[in-house]
Amino acid sequence: ENESSVSITVVGASGDLAKKKIFPALFALYYEGCLPKHFTVFGYARSKMTDAELRNMVSKTLTCRIDQRENCGEKMDQFLKRCFYHSGQYDSQEHFEALDKKLKEHEGGRESNRLFYLSIPPNIFIDAVKCASSSASAASGWTRVIVEKPFGRDSESSAALTKALKQYLTEDQIFRIDHYLGKELVENLSVLRFSNLIFEPLWSRQYIRNVQLIFSEDFGTEGRGGYFDNYGIIRDIMQNHLLQILALFAMETPVSLDAEDIRNEKSHTRGGVTHPGYTDDKTVPKDSVTPTFAAAALFIDNARWDGVPFLMKAGKALHNRSAEIRVQFRHVPGNLYNRNIGTDLDQATNELVIRVQPDEAIYLKINNKVPGLGMRLDRSNLNLLYSTRYSKEIPDAYERLLLDAIEGERRLFIRSDELDAAWSLFTPVLKELEEKRTIPEYYPYGSRGPVGAHYLAARYKVRWGDLGMEE
Ligand code: BG6
Repeated sequence: ENESSVSITVVGASGDLAKKKIFPALFALYYEGCLPKHFTVFGYARSKMTDAELRNMVSKTLTCRIDQRENCGEKMDQFLKRCFYHSGQYDSQEHFEALDKKLKEHEGGRESNRLFYLSIPPNIFIDAVKCASSSASAASGWTRVIVEKPFGRDSESSAALTKALKQYLTEDQIFRIDHYLGKELVENLSVLRFSNLIFEPLWSRQYIRNVQLIFSEDFGTEGRGGYFDNYGIIRDIMQNHLLQILALFAMETPVSLDAEDIRNEKSHTRGGVTHPGYTDDKTVPKDSVTPTFAAAALFIDNARWDGVPFLMKAGKALHNRSAEIRVQFRHVPGNLYNRNIGTDLDQATNELVIRVQPDEAIYLKINNKVPGLGMRLDRSNLNLLYSTRYSKEIPDAYERLLLDAIEGERRLFIRSDELDAAWSLFTPVLKELEEKRTIPEYYPYGSRGPVGAHYLAARYKVRWGDLGMEE
């Protein structure tokens, strides 16, 4: 095992994702000693570049975390020496054969394992998979392919994509990334729930009044309009990132922590109706009706969650950047202290907040007596703020996911039946919006989003937790 090698080929090496996330994550793994002894990184793209030019490009993107400062420059040099470049077309067997030859040289007769990271637009996906698998698969050892969304734009196109992929790869070889699953607090969700006595017993309609999944960004689609306008926020964020979090949140207890057991439970968590909210985007064509904000209420048809609204909202160009899960609990029945709380019953409910980003934290809002002779209550936070509790900087999601792919750990990747389930939930509403060319509700850049989101919440007698003042 020690003598086998891993070759990582980043297909689409000069793209944004490769520069911003993939190379830096590979370097961080290298720094931590997580990559195998014999590894090589190849950049593959159409433009002509020498190894030195690739190294120069990559070097500009590398950083050392606060806890990785020691010998940082030296480590970077060592890492860059393991990086190479091969220029080729994405649909050329010949060019992939040439890559194969170079990979073989680096593998030096060892057992070879090969990971291809496809960081390329969807229209050239299949061509690249075909060429990589038929001309550059590992002769011994495994061959795995990491793919990034979009995985189609609705149920049919997604199924067609899966079918095409499976002509060249087995399900076992396909690693579909949803980088939200690699985020520290998303991964912690199961730990919080299943290893603390005080949460799992409350995790049902009996105690939980509603759950909110909130994504907001304080920037628009600048520079990505070409991609974004064709997809919109429902496909970009809800159908994948928020729905994955919902499934992890709401799933039944898996039989074990084994990847297949977890993926089974997630795909059993099926939802119902969706009600989209609307907005606009000034960076896309004047007549575009692509939503950049959406809100939806989903229900889960099972005994645990019967009648509990799962509210989602996701928006670009809002007033802040954040991703969080909010769990609002029911009122205390016949609460003795209601009159000390005031008339606002919402104030009386507990709320558990899992802040995925920024400033990772888990906090619980509780009612507490304001110190003094009187009897007045307020809402205070029991607060676990990661930056004060843990001194280590949190690794980027891509680090964990890349490491898992190298180690063959599939737990955080999306299986094709999960993907089908996710699309079947959103495809009807997406079709309807597109067929009717529904005009989104407008909101100003930098605002808190359209008021429709409040009406949606109000319909379920819910208030969005992120709009509270007292936090
Ligand atoms: C991507 C979306 O999947 O996630 C982008 O395509 C979005 O539109 C990004 O900006 C957000 O990721 P993060 O990790 O920055 O919250």
